[in-house]
Amino acid sequence: MAYSVAVIVGSLRKESFSLKIAKALTKLAPSSLQLDVVTLGGLSFYNQDLEATPPADWVSFRDRIKKADAVLFVTPEYNRSVPGVLKNAIDVGSRPYGQSVFNGKPGGVISNSPGAIGGFGANHHLRQSLTFLNIAILQQPEAYVGGIGDAFDDKGELVKVSVREFLETYIKAFDAWVAQQKK
Ligand SMILES: Cc1cc2nc3c(=O)[nH]c(=O)nc-3n(C[C@H](O)[C@H](O)[C@H](O)COP(=O)(O)O)c2cc1C
Repeated sequence: MAYSVAVIVGSLRKESFSLKIAKALTKLAPSSLQLDVVTLGGLSFYNQDLEATPPADWVSFRDRIKKADAVLFVTPEYNRSVPGVLKNAIDVGSRPYGQSVFNGKPGGVISNSPGAIGGFGANHHLRQSLTFLNIAILQQPEAYVGGIGDAFDDKGELVKVSVREFLETYIKAFDAWVAQQKK
């Protein structure tokens, strides 16, 4: 049996490196993980006033995450922090109070950037929220993927060996983490 993983992508950009990493992970992951790439383009802003009759896009996002055994965040860094679309998704999934779809799931964070720091700031700001949401985050290896700008060819294939090898290592560790948390 494979564990299902919702891979939540923190960028809406069509040519997003984060999205390309998420898609590459679907090929690199062992067969014991089933990855579902979740993009956030259709998710409307959280507004507590709407909880009485939540918008259909919130309901389907919450259901999709609820069904997953684990969550893996793949995100860029915006101004040394978490992109707004990803923070919004966390807020939508976390409510109504006491019914967070993230509660108790194993999770992981992969930040990335064309720059050298690899989204370290976004990664750790994200971890602050994930800790509050009681997501059991894989601690090691940490994943700050720098130099992502030349990692993919024009068909979106992952061609940078160092990045591929790191992602293979990461997803194997994540697989072991999910198995350990779920047993
Ligand atoms: C609003 C905005 C803020 C950004 N801030 C940062 C930053 O703090 N650190 C960084 O490394 N890159 C930053 N960047 C550059 C992104 O890393 C780059 O645009 C990246 O390709 C975005 O991720 P994506 O390819 O998944 O869309 C920023 C980009 C934008 C649009």
